[in-house]
Amino acid sequence: MERNKKRVFSGIQPSGDLHLGNYVGAIKQWVALQDEYECIFSIVDLHAITVPYDPALLKERIRRLAALYLACGIDPQKAVVFVQSHNPDHPVLAWLLDCVASMGQLRRMTQYKAKAEKLKEKVTVGLFNYPALMAADILLYQTDVVPVGEDQKQHVELTRDLAEKFNARFGETFKLPEVKILQVGARVMSLQNPSKKMSKSAEDPNGTIDLLDSPEEIVRKVKSAVTDSGREIVFDRENKPGISNLLAIYANLSGKKIEKLEEEYQGKGYGEFKTDLADLIVETLRPIQERYQKIRKEEDYLESLFQEGLRKVKPISEATLKKVYERMGLG
Ligand code: AQP
Repeated sequence: MERNKKRVFSGIQPSGDLHLGNYVGAIKQWVALQDEYECIFSIVDLHAITVPYDPALLKERIRRLAALYLACGIDPQKAVVFVQSHNPDHPVLAWLLDCVASMGQLRRMTQYKAKAEKLKEKVTVGLFNYPALMAADILLYQTDVVPVGEDQKQHVELTRDLAEKFNARFGETFKLPEVKILQVGARVMSLQNPSKKMSKSAEDPNGTIDLLDSPEEIVRKVKSAVTDSGREIVFDRENKPGISNLLAIYANLSGKKIEKLEEEYQGKGYGEFKTDLADLIVETLRPIQERYQKIRKEEDYLESLFQEGLRKVKPISEATLKKVYERMGLG
């Protein structure tokens, strides 16, 4: 790959279909960056196996996710799409970074703490190690920019810390990546519990809008979204977390400023606001769902996309790994 543009790397786990949080927090940003940056987008399946999962479903989920990337506007003419497990350089670098990271650094990761609390005795070493693998994903490609949702900010900061630690100990090797987070929509919350993020693995599926939900499901989920006391449609995360979450989604999808929406809905009730928001979501997702159905009909296309992706990324990761081996005195 030519390197006359800055490089972007990001990925999503095939742990389920994409939801509105993934779309707003990550994918929309990716699509917007494709012209200006050299983009690499991965389907990070090695991350998806850190929690209990069904092996019979994983292959299908990888393909569904790839098709959703494309349906949302990732253009293979502009960006590279590949499956993380097709490139074994990722777990190799993760191991090498394990030997640089301290237990204390990884123990501080809030995502690990939250997931470990839910999983209890099912917690794996892989889940603890997830951030080192994510650091490997990013550092292998000498990435400049990592566009993610707010929840992944801490992991990108850890990546920078590990790169700095490695460079200081073994000599300049890794570029330090910058995190890129949206102003509005960086953290889409559950429609049923606005103190928790919208998530694939949420306890209450009614709080999560999947990109492949039918219009009826979308309307039902938005209408039953938790709102707050009072009738005013105003943005106040602390006192009105439910309506603030819906306003942030509305603002992101419509491109309107939150203040403008507050003005438009002054004196109107939650019902009217929710009807309009549900319509907006349905209309935003309609073309994505249509494109998705088309892509899924061409199975061979995805296989050739993955091969082409691997062909493009492998020389980059190999070059980084070679440098790391030399610096660490291996081989
Ligand atoms: N609620 C969210 N709001 C904004 N951005 C979000 N992202 C995830 N949830 C939200 C962003 O989507 C990208 C991919 O995330 P991921 O699937 O790799 O991991 P995750 O953050 O753990 O996502 P989920 O949906 O919560 O998955 P599960 O339930 O399987 O753990 C990232 O850029 C993330 O910031």
